[in-house]
Amino acid sequence: MKITVRGLTRRYADTAVLDQLDLDVEPGECVALVGRSGAGKSTLLHLLAGIDQAEAGSIAFDGLRIDTLDEAARTRFRRQHLGLVFQSWNLVPSLSALDNLRLPLELIGLRGDEARGRAQALLERLGLGDLAHRFADELSGGQQQRVAVARALVHAPSVLLADEPTGSLDADSAAAVMRLLIGACREAGASLVLVTHAAEVMGQADRLLRVEAGRLRPA
Ligand SMILES: Nc1ncnc2c1ncn2[C@@H]1O[C@H](COP(=O)(O)OP(=O)(O)O)[C@@H](O)[C@H]1O
Ligand SMILES: [Mg+2]
Repeated sequence: MKITVRGLTRRYADTAVLDQLDLDVEPGECVALVGRSGAGKSTLLHLLAGIDQAEAGSIAFDGLRIDTLDEAARTRFRRQHLGLVFQSWNLVPSLSALDNLRLPLELIGLRGDEARGRAQALLERLGLGDLAHRFADELSGGQQQRVAVARALVHAPSVLLADEPTGSLDADSAAAVMRLLIGACREAGASLVLVTHAAEVMGQADRLLRVEAGRLRPA
C-alpha cells in the first residue's frame, strides 16, 4: 500500500515531538528510520498504526484516511492490513507459539486447518517449527521476538511497521528476522517502515530517513 502522511503534528505538553511531518512510502518500499533516542520514531510508528492520534495532519493508506476513521473502523483496518512489531506488543504468555499466530488470523475470520497450516508453515520457515507447541513464556527472548515477527506477518499484511525489531537479538536471530521482514517486502510487496540502530539493517533498506526536529530528512 502507498502511505501518504501530511503535516503530522503530535505534541506532549508544550513540545511538538512531530512537527508538520510529511512522509511518502511507495507500495513495496522498505524505509528505515533512524534518529537519536527521544526524536519521535516510536511516536511516528504508533500514529501510523492508528494506536495514537495526532493533533494535526493526515495519514492515508492507498488514499484511505485512517485518521478520520472511528476507533472500531481503525481497529478493523489494522487487523486486516497492518503487521506490527512493537516492543509493547508482547506475545500472550499463556498461549503456545502456534496459538499466538492463530490469534490474528482468527480476528480476520480465518480458522481451522487453514489457519493452523499457515501458522505452522511460517514458524517452520523461521526455524521455530519444533517450538510451535511451547508456551510463549517458555521461549527465550530471541525466540519470542522471532515469534512476534511471525505473528506480524501471518495474515500477509500490506504494510509492516517495525520498531527496532532486531534490538535485543543475537546476530543469527537478527539476520533471520530481517530476512523475513525484507522478504515480505521484496516477495509479497508489503510496504515496510522500520526503526533501527543497526548499520546492517539500514543497509538493506531502499531509503534511509532521519527523524530530527519533528520532521524527516534523508539520512
Ligand atoms: N505518552 C507520552 N507522554 C509524554 N511524552 C511522551 C509520551 N510518549 C513519548 N513521549 C515523548 O516524546 C518524545 C519522543 O518519544 P519516542 O517517540 O518514544 O522517541 P524515540 O522512539 O525516537 O526514541 C520523547 O521526548 C518522549 O519523552
Ligand atoms: Mg523508540
